[in-house]
Amino acid sequence: VVVLRRQMKSSGEWAKAEAIFRELEDKCGTPTAKLRQVADAMAVEMHAGVASDGGSKLKMLISFVDNLPTGDEKGLFYALDLGGTNFRVMRVQLGGTIKQECEQVSIPPHFMVGSSHELFDFIAGVVAKFVAKEGEDFHLPPGRQRELGFTFSFPVRQSSLASGTLIKWTKGFFIEDAVGEDVVGELTKAMEKVGLDMRVTALINDTVGTLARGRYTDPDVVAAVILGTGTNAAYVERAQAIPKLEGDLPKSGEMVINMEWGNFRCSHLPLTEYDQSLDDESLNPGEQIFEKIISGMYLGEIVRRVLLRMAEEASFFGDSIPPKLKISFILRTPDMSAMHHDTSSDLKVVGKKLKDILEVTSSSLKMRRMVVEVCDVVASRGARLATAGIVGILKKLERGEKERSVIAVDGALFVHYTEFRNCMKSTLKELLGEAASDRVILEHSNDGSGIGAALIAASHSQYLPVEES
Ligand code: GLC
Repeated sequence: VVVLRRQMKSSGEWAKAEAIFRELEDKCGTPTAKLRQVADAMAVEMHAGVASDGGSKLKMLISFVDNLPTGDEKGLFYALDLGGTNFRVMRVQLGGTIKQECEQVSIPPHFMVGSSHELFDFIAGVVAKFVAKEGEDFHLPPGRQRELGFTFSFPVRQSSLASGTLIKWTKGFFIEDAVGEDVVGELTKAMEKVGLDMRVTALINDTVGTLARGRYTDPDVVAAVILGTGTNAAYVERAQAIPKLEGDLPKSGEMVINMEWGNFRCSHLPLTEYDQSLDDESLNPGEQIFEKIISGMYLGEIVRRVLLRMAEEASFFGDSIPPKLKISFILRTPDMSAMHHDTSSDLKVVGKKLKDILEVTSSSLKMRRMVVEVCDVVASRGARLATAGIVGILKKLERGEKERSVIAVDGALFVHYTEFRNCMKSTLKELLGEAASDRVILEHSNDGSGIGAALIAASHSQYLPVEES
């Protein structure tokens, strides 16, 4: 009798869990028509953002990059990439085959929310040690100062290619005294303190680096998208089409715009109670809503919130709630991805992740299947919305049906989360039609924030021969 009663209880609870799931599926729905509305709204906001500062939630920041690499860049350049959980320093020898060396350091979490000089002193220290190890494969002509391309992947208001002030932090960084400061100035000060003689030649966003990297190998690259810890896009705009651009128009007639699309928002976005509570509890409530439903920093956390509700309201994991499930950000997107890609018949990866991360000691196949479904709904929503964003950019660019348009994409979410990437590709077909989708290509552009930064530093080096007029 006891066993029977338990089963009856659990079947009622199972129905409740299913109802929670169906509600999630419904609220996260992105039918084609909705995606088209999102794409249209993206294009409209792009217009508003280039018209005037503050004209849109999309900041549409001017990058001061008006020339993309040609392939002729030469010389030794350094790159520094700050913007995710790790930061990297690289040296790159350009000209012929690219030679590169790199060091990656994870940022101790207290530096992400501490003070500006602590973060920059720490970085400068790592850079100085790395530079000291420069070997004979790398050549700096005598008497030259080393030059650095600084990829700083946060919204920055630039005043030139090599200066700009931080508008706000995103992605879990929160260092109050750096907001409004010139980040190149901060880095340069820190490098001087450790006796490093290095000039910051270019300050760029990771999307801009990815665009440069992509263009280096493919002249049809028109835009770049990052899908990693955060998400964002940059594209090449006609200078004439940027009313807020001050001063003389660049000779090239073009300007790269860093959209900061992570902060995009429109009434068509499918949002849930989980997104709402995640946003409320975040370091930047009300901001970066598009990013919070698409990018790697948040997807696993959304899944955790859904599972927690199932545990609380439908005893999904048994009579008690697994204490670990209450810890924010404990379920990371790479773990979610591993569960989502589990192809074993008994979903053993899912079982193992639930056990290792959430300390759920036993899980039935039915439960594991449900977990995979939740991952699928959350990932698909993100991938489909990101694709709608890309279609919005193509719309703004009025790319003709016959032109080949390449979107350079980088970031761990795109590179490692196969279901996410595949979903983007199929959504592109759905939105553009089979024929046009052959001409719009999502291409992985490797290491834009490293090599791309070095390329831009090279094409703006202080040692370039002065152009004859
Ligand atoms: C965040 C940053 C943006 C960056 C993106 C991807 O959205 O604000 O500058 O490009 O993350 O790293």
